[in-house]
Amino acid sequence: MARKKIALIGAGNIGGTLAHLAASKELGDVVLFDVVEGVPQGKALDLAHCAPVEGFDVELKGTNDYSDIAGADVIIVTAGVARKPGMSRDDLLGINLKVMKAVGEGIAANAPNAFVICITNPLDAMVWALREFSGLPHHMVVGMAGVLDSARFRHFLADEFKVSVQDVTAFVLGGHGDTMVPVVEYSTVAGIPIPDLIEMGWSTKERIDAIVQRTRSGGGEIVALLKTGSAYYAPATSGIEMAEAYLKDKKRVLPAAVNLTSQYGVSDLYVGVPVVIGAGGVEKIVEIKLNDEAKANFQVSVDAVKELLVACKNIDGSLA
Ligand code: APR
Repeated sequence: MARKKIALIGAGNIGGTLAHLAASKELGDVVLFDVVEGVPQGKALDLAHCAPVEGFDVELKGTNDYSDIAGADVIIVTAGVARKPGMSRDDLLGINLKVMKAVGEGIAANAPNAFVICITNPLDAMVWALREFSGLPHHMVVGMAGVLDSARFRHFLADEFKVSVQDVTAFVLGGHGDTMVPVVEYSTVAGIPIPDLIEMGWSTKERIDAIVQRTRSGGGEIVALLKTGSAYYAPATSGIEMAEAYLKDKKRVLPAAVNLTSQYGVSDLYVGVPVVIGAGGVEKIVEIKLNDEAKANFQVSVDAVKELLVACKNIDGSLA
């Protein structure tokens, strides 16, 4: 069986980490693409030197030429600029929108059958724009945010409850950013919902509210610490989990930014909801019943994403 092919557009911090993870998991041959000459080639060579030590058998190639992504099964997009302290994800919009245009056209011309995972921020707007520019089917273009946001939530919850992260499941909805909606009723320790754990005296509502807030600003906390860029280990590992779900037809139920077509009362908008990812791409959108508070918070998140799309359309008339 021929190896799968994974193309990574953007060979920066997340792109390099994605390449390492994809190679060490032997998900397939890896192509690292970037506009900067030398960087993808250097990273690919450096990572290839891990192979004898780690024992993986995949090819790694760095390139500045889109034709090298031809035949890719999965494409993960991190091209663009990352946040610096004091910047919101939305501040990246103008620059990264232009990048999405170039990347979308590159994908359309060279790998139109790929499953595309966008990580570039502001996520919900960029994945929408990438889909528009590439013209790929909606079920084959998704945004990675929810896996990361719920991983952050799970980490903080496991820390609070003093239990293994493995036993904590978390549920987040909405856009990536300050308006994301962690749903505590659907977040559990070994199946026990958080409100029950509060009743059992494991934590308090105030402490959980503080964790929700810390989750929402989890990316910003890291930007403030790093000072020169934004988080990359956890974003990369989250992107790989989605790629693996597609490549191995795992039918994982994961939160992802997908195009809604009336679910949750929303249409023609990319926003984070739980979906099933398998060999068919987004195979199913999971529509759960929300309580009034979650519904209201979800609406705030949806409105924030809508505003970003208006800004995109104002910048690039071809999107209007
Ligand atoms: N095509 C391909 N690559 C590009 C383009 C382009 N048009 N424009 C910029 N790049 C490359 C840069 O050269 C750089 O190598 O994208 C890479 C981005 O890497 P970093 O600056 O290290 O950023 P990273 O931390 O990887 O984050 C990338 O993901 O989470 C988001 O907010 C984050 O939008 C940012 C993106």
